[in-house]
Amino acid sequence: MSASILQENKEKFAELQNTIDEFKDQEGPLMPILHKAQEIFGHLPIEVQEYIAKALDIPITDIYGVATFYSQFTLQPKGKYSIGVCMGTACYVKGSQAILDELIKEIGVQPGGTTEDFNFTLEATRCLGACGLAPVIMINDDVYGRLVPSDIKEIVNKYRSK
Ligand code: FES
Repeated sequence: MSASILQENKEKFAELQNTIDEFKDQEGPLMPILHKAQEIFGHLPIEVQEYIAKALDIPITDIYGVATFYSQFTLQPKGKYSIGVCMGTACYVKGSQAILDELIKEIGVQPGGTTEDFNFTLEATRCLGACGLAPVIMINDDVYGRLVPSDIKEIVNKYRSK
C-alpha cells in the first residue's frame, strides 16, 4: 500500500479503522464496513480495499467481488455533481438523446465518465419517475424537465459556479 495515501488520509483511515473495529467480530461485517468506507472516501479505491482485506484477514478479491457486484459501490471517484439523463421510453421519444449529446459536448465526458476537475459525473439512467416532464435530467437532487438542447448550457453553468 502506498504510504503517502495513508499519510495524506490519516484521519479518514483512522475513521475506517474505528468502523472495522466496530464490525469485525459481528456476522457479515463486510457490507457495513464497505458502506462506511465509501461514505468516508467517496468511493472505494484499491488502497482502501487493501486496507480492509488486511484488517479482516480476507483476500482482496472478496472485497473486489462485493464492491463490483453491488451498484451502490463505486471504485472510481465521482464528481461533486452527478448528472443523470433519463433514457426511459417517455424521455427517449421526447428527445433525450439530443439532451445527452449536448451534455457530452458541454462537459466533455461520455456517460459513466467524470470531468477532470471532479465537478461532474455524467450518467444515462432509467426512468426517473417524472415522465410527465420528459425529457428529464437530474443533477444531484434537482430535477429539470421539458428540456431542449439549448437549455443545457445555462443549467450546467449554475453548477459550475457553485
Ligand atoms: S421516462 Fe424519463 S422520467 Fe420516465
